Amino acid sequence: MIGVDLVKISRIEKMVERFGDKALKRFLNESEIKEAKKIESIAGYWAAKEAISKALKTGIGKELGFKDIIIYKESSGAPNFRLHPDKEKKFNIRSSSLSISHDGGFAIAVAAVELGSPASHEG
Ligand SMILES: CC(C)(COP(=O)(O)OP(=O)(O)OC[C@H]1O[C@@H](n2cnc3c(N)ncnc32)[C@H](O)[C@@H]1OP(=O)(O)O)[C@@H](O)C(=O)NCCC(=O)NCCS
Repeated sequence: MIGVDLVKISRIEKMVERFGDKALKRFLNESEIKEAKKIESIAGYWAAKEAISKALKTGIGKELGFKDIIIYKESSGAPNFRLHPDKEKKFNIRSSSLSISHDGGFAIAVAAVELGSPASHEG
């Protein structure tokens, strides 16, 4: 399953200018705040989380919050993600892939997931 999201970097920038750290802490985990320094990377993480929520078919909401998704960098520098331990069982992701890009004032992300079994999505 795949998901995609596109976000205007200026939208995220305005949110961060207005609400500062509080804005970041609303959708990023501590490790992600340390990792994503530039505003385009921060916007990329936003897009990534929305793309992941689409790949998992839930959208962002009660079932899956922004902070339930933890983005990290592989040793190659490529991003990937895991879910918060509370959500791991619910979705049973067997493998995942995440790609982020930014240019021309936009950040875009595509996420792909393979689930362990269809029934595992229910719980
Ligand atoms: C699904 C979600 C990620 C959509 O994001 P969005 O930025 O509002 O909208 P996008 O333009 O990126 O995507 C819309 C498309 O997502 C797709 N979509 C909707 N629900 C979906 C779901 N559950 N799973 C997968 N895809 C979904 C649809 O194709 C939709 O297009 P349509 O409206 O033409 O049918 C939604 O959960 C969301 O709005 N999350 C943001 C929550 C939030 O806290 N925002 C804070 C704003 S300050």
